[in-house]
Amino acid sequence: MYRSHNCGELNASHINKEVTLAGWVQKSRDKGFMIWVDLRDRYGITQLIFDEQRTDKAVFEKAKSLGREFVIQVKGTVIERESKNPNMATGEIEILVAELTILNQAQLPPFTIEDETDGGEDIRMKYRYLDIRRNPVKNNLLFRHKVSMEVRKYLSDQGFCDVETPYLIKSTPEGARDFVVPSRMNEGQFYALPQSPQTFKQLLMVGGMDKYFQIVKCFRDEDLRADRQPEFTQIDCEMAFVEQEDILNMFEGLTRHLLKEIKGIEVDKFPRITYDYAMKTYGNDKPDIRFEMKFGELNAVAQHKDFPVFNSAELVVGIAAPGCASYTRKEIDALIDWVKRPQVGASGMVYVKCEEDGTFKSSVDKFYDQEDLKKWAEITNAKPGDLILILSGNANKVRTQLSALRMEVATRLGLRKPDEFAPLWVVDFPLLEWDEESGRYHAMHHPFTSPKPEDMALIETEPGKVRANAYDMVLNGNEIGGGSIRIHDRDLQSRMFDLLGFSKEEAQAQFGFLMSAFEFGAPPHGGLAFGLDRLVSILGGQETIRDFIAFPKNNSGRDVMIDAPSTIDESQLQELHIKLR
Ligand code: AMO
Repeated sequence: MYRSHNCGELNASHINKEVTLAGWVQKSRDKGFMIWVDLRDRYGITQLIFDEQRTDKAVFEKAKSLGREFVIQVKGTVIERESKNPNMATGEIEILVAELTILNQAQLPPFTIEDETDGGEDIRMKYRYLDIRRNPVKNNLLFRHKVSMEVRKYLSDQGFCDVETPYLIKSTPEGARDFVVPSRMNEGQFYALPQSPQTFKQLLMVGGMDKYFQIVKCFRDEDLRADRQPEFTQIDCEMAFVEQEDILNMFEGLTRHLLKEIKGIEVDKFPRITYDYAMKTYGNDKPDIRFEMKFGELNAVAQHKDFPVFNSAELVVGIAAPGCASYTRKEIDALIDWVKRPQVGASGMVYVKCEEDGTFKSSVDKFYDQEDLKKWAEITNAKPGDLILILSGNANKVRTQLSALRMEVATRLGLRKPDEFAPLWVVDFPLLEWDEESGRYHAMHHPFTSPKPEDMALIETEPGKVRANAYDMVLNGNEIGGGSIRIHDRDLQSRMFDLLGFSKEEAQAQFGFLMSAFEFGAPPHGGLAFGLDRLVSILGGQETIRDFIAFPKNNSGRDVMIDAPSTIDESQLQELHIKLR
């Protein structure tokens, strides 16, 4: 028996008990006649004491040799501590050690294994197994476990069946590049790793599984960001005989359950907004609604005066930054510089201070009088004390820029509170989006998404105007899930591939299996997938998903610990029929 207890559970009720503990040496303090060692495992830290007077001489000598991160086993007696530590679960006791076994020695770790470490990101990634010993990383993994167990429990109780789908598949277009795997047995042919199990879950519905879920790895070869990894995990779900409403209710139920169980928070029914409303009101399809600052469109009240910048703009739009009328010239200039950065790309910014006395002071006083500015304040919902920030230009661009500014101001004002949760649904996404580069339409969600029946007629005439039965779940400004009602009719699916520029042959070659399945009695169906990494990190009050993944990739898509990707042997290449240039 390596241990009778773990390092987090002993307290005053165990005093005088003989115990055996095992773990890592967090630190050791040698006072000459007395040695204290903090022994750590996943569950906590217990203080050990070696006393020249009371401890066997050989054991005492061995204790002197202990270094940080040595793995040891001790036997001893639980005693009351002289100086208690009320901040520690085990702070009332210590172990007077009688026997000490060094199970394994350890080199000095390259960074300190403490909550606040001196290790930079790169070194911690290289020695991720050491980083996992630290509370912040360990606790994130335990938190992730808790979320995924709750998800499994909830979905299983609702009748969902966990089915595994294959990882070696044929490419499914979801907008990113595929990772491919060469086939040794089929010369010149490749599998693709799934970007999602989309087509398989639809085939499970054709197979009559009715309600499917899977917590599943997905692979996308795309540029990385804080909320993106090349391999990530989805909570993938699909249901048969459902309409959009059924799906929204089911997964709103799951999310509400998680907020309650994990965070102890009860949330009201999720607001639902359309894609069009989201774009016009927040300039983006994943709005953070923990705070206001809704867009106010000012064309009608700001154009046709003598200010040429606004007159020539497609859109003049502003937000009211709460309480910022007191900003100094320097603070405002800092915001102007911020919007002019190439990453944001605005050419300038107009501002209006809404003074406490009801008057206005703006950077365009030359062109606009108090009556004009009052109208701007009404439209942007600005109160006395607020600062209206206005951008103008091409409508799409300016919305994106103002959306970035809205988030920046919210961050500066501390309005993006990690312990506040504001979920919502964004619905009625466009079915297609025009891609300037390739000169054709792309599916906004994916090619299996069904158009709204009432927009069907537009498919032939104005395909860009057709709305889809597609929806995203948004939490605190992050898209945490997305899905749609699917096409289950062969002819419509085939028409969709036409619209997306597939030839009949290409569509048949890539998706013949799905279209023929639709000829064998496919039920109406739909579903959604959550990004588990994102969901967990936001519930955990953070936005970097890497911190919630045991072994993540860095920004260049590398695992620096195992050093992957890497070259392979010439003989392996030959077996795979691959010649490198
Ligand atoms: P979608 O592509 O919207 O839909 O993906 C679903 C959710 O997965 C998360 N996600 C990611 N998380 C981390 N890293 C990435 N690279 C990454 N890409 C996506 C997001 C996203 O909302 N098959 C459809 C679902 C469906 O229609 O049912 C799909 O994959 O949180």
